Amino acid sequence: MSAPQESGGGGRGAALTTVPAVRCVGLRKSYRSNGNEVVALRGVDLEARAGEMLLLVGPSGCGKTTLLSVLAGVLDADGGEAEVFGASVTRMRPRQRTEFRLRNIGFVFQHFNLLPSLSNAENVAIPLLLRGTPRAAAVDKAVAELRLVGLEGREHDHPHHLSGGQQQRVAIARALVAEPRLIVCDEPTASLDGDTGARILQLLKDIAVDRERCIVVVTHDARVFRFGDRIAEMLDGRIVKVHDDPKELLHG
Ligand SMILES: Nc1ncnc2c1ncn2[C@@H]1O[C@H](COP(=O)(O)OP(=O)(O)OP(=O)(O)O)[C@@H](O)[C@H]1O
Ligand SMILES: [Mg+2]
Repeated sequence: MSAPQESGGGGRGAALTTVPAVRCVGLRKSYRSNGNEVVALRGVDLEARAGEMLLLVGPSGCGKTTLLSVLAGVLDADGGEAEVFGASVTRMRPRQRTEFRLRNIGFVFQHFNLLPSLSNAENVAIPLLLRGTPRAAAVDKAVAELRLVGLEGREHDHPHHLSGGQQQRVAIARALVAEPRLIVCDEPTASLDGDTGARILQLLKDIAVDRERCIVVVTHDARVFRFGDRIAEMLDGRIVKVHDDPKELLHG
């Protein structure tokens, strides 16, 4: 693998970086299930840049969640390499990877993963609390983030009192609250109506463009396509095509 290019001294100069936000080379991952091997990633090559929203589409079971999980440093790969802003998450030791994830990556999980015993604001505050932000400041920021996703007034309620779409927005607020440089979203509009979904996608898109973040969105939802800068098609554990113009998929 070639050496990463200069990234503005590795400091806050993400806007000037020429290092891809995401770079996967030959990424492989299998699961063992009841004594059988299930191959989820068969050699994934993919790049995404800061400032763009990359959509990842493909049939159920093709490996999308597995790929996001490896990228986000929550799952070990078996082979190949995944770099996030030039840092190899696949080579990091677990502790270092956890630290890197906390500082750089937000994850909207397919099944939300909200903690039922915590309020919505506390759920959203978790990434900040884990980074050592004082509790009051973390909760204040969480409350502001919940307003951004349209959940003003529900901050001190609990996730199980919310609709599926409202829970999904809590999960999105949690992924955004620490202002990560890479945000990976697994079906973020699956429980949202058309208008709410469009508003959330526009929010994510604005964050990508205005703050030079990289956003990778797994979706089955054709209404999301118009927000993407590029669309990567996945099939049976591989990226088989990348569309530079998402309109190709809308009209083709
Ligand atoms: N923990 C696991 N143990 C065993 N097999 C798994 C596990 N997680 C995923 N798999 C298998 O790996 C393959 C890829 O799964 P993955 O969840 O990445 O697919 P996906 O593209 O996200 O699907 P969907 O669109 O349904 O969410 C599937 O065949 C799945 O059954
Ligand atoms: Mg999935």
